Amino acid sequence: MYLEQKKILVTGGAGFIASHLTDALIEQGHEVSIIDNLSTGQKQNINPKANFFELDIQDEQVGDLFKENNFDYVFHSAAQINLRNSVENPIFDAQSNILGGLNILENCKKYKVKKFIFSSTGGALYGDADIIPTPETYLAKPISPYGVAKLTIENYLHYYQKIHGLNYTILRYANVYGPRQNSLAEAGVVSIFITKILNNQQPVINGEGTQTRDYVYVADVVRANLAAMAHEPVGIYNVATEKQTDVNQIFKLITANFPDKQLEEKHGPAMLGEQKTSCLAIGKIKKELGWQPEVELADGIKRTVEWFRGNN
Ligand SMILES: NC(=O)c1ccc[n+]([C@@H]2O[C@H](COP(=O)([O-])OP(=O)(O)OC[C@H]3O[C@@H](n4cnc5c(N)ncnc54)[C@H](O)[C@@H]3O)[C@@H](O)[C@H]2O)c1
Repeated sequence: MYLEQKKILVTGGAGFIASHLTDALIEQGHEVSIIDNLSTGQKQNINPKANFFELDIQDEQVGDLFKENNFDYVFHSAAQINLRNSVENPIFDAQSNILGGLNILENCKKYKVKKFIFSSTGGALYGDADIIPTPETYLAKPISPYGVAKLTIENYLHYYQKIHGLNYTILRYANVYGPRQNSLAEAGVVSIFITKILNNQQPVINGEGTQTRDYVYVADVVRANLAAMAHEPVGIYNVATEKQTDVNQIFKLITANFPDKQLEEKHGPAMLGEQKTSCLAIGKIKKELGWQPEVELADGIKRTVEWFRGNN
């Protein structure tokens, strides 16, 4: 529990990750406002104690909210999150993820926010890296408009800090999974498979299923955000487990929770150009923010299945 109540803005607070973050901030006694346009977010995710503003982050009214509220901290999580959509419609992606982010940043500068905490991405920035686990110093050369937009906001943050003194923490998430995840997300495979099984449909593994990702549980990601708020340093941190898991293993871990169902591993065509490997190094965040993941994958999947059983 923090002794002092802070005024906090969470963008995207009706979404998967930031709704859990909002719950944790409110639990700590802070006053939380949410901006979300409900494009992928859900009203039922919104904590009833939060002040909710149904707004696009690009909207001019965002400025009025900053003016009226004097936010201490801003967690920026709202984004167009679908990588494939960004390839099909890079202009829409840039409007939301670059111009929308910039609108929030300009207001943070104008109203002297203490710290900006940004939900960035590891996987989409590093791509198929030749250093595994990949550290934050690895040269980010994104190959999707989504990754380019995330990197652009990271670059803007450097500028806002150097020139305008806006403090920030960039959190580069690995593949986040857990309750409330929707099936469009980067780590959608966990929620997609669970939803299919609960609806008596066959999950299909793309290609051989040997593509690996670094799966981090949403409650651990929330703790990383709280650690970023509590610590002074400006910096970039991976938020991950430093462990690789392939899709075939994910399928087995999920199906272990459905002992009554006869579930076979079925494979479909490989996805063209799909990233082979993603695994992020976490030495820096351990050392500087004192954070490390606590939830093991089997346990996180079990909790996620339980949630989907009650909410399918
Ligand atoms: N889920 C992952 O594995 C993962 C990995 C890396 C980074 N991230 C980042 O974490 C953040 C949260 O992702 P999530 O998985 O919770 O996705 P999500 O889709 O559940 O959350 C995003 C939220 O932002 C809102 N939103 C989108 N565009 C908006 C706009 N223009 N104006 C206002 N609100 C808008 C959506 O309605 C939604 O509630 C995103 O920035 C995403 O890029 C997620």
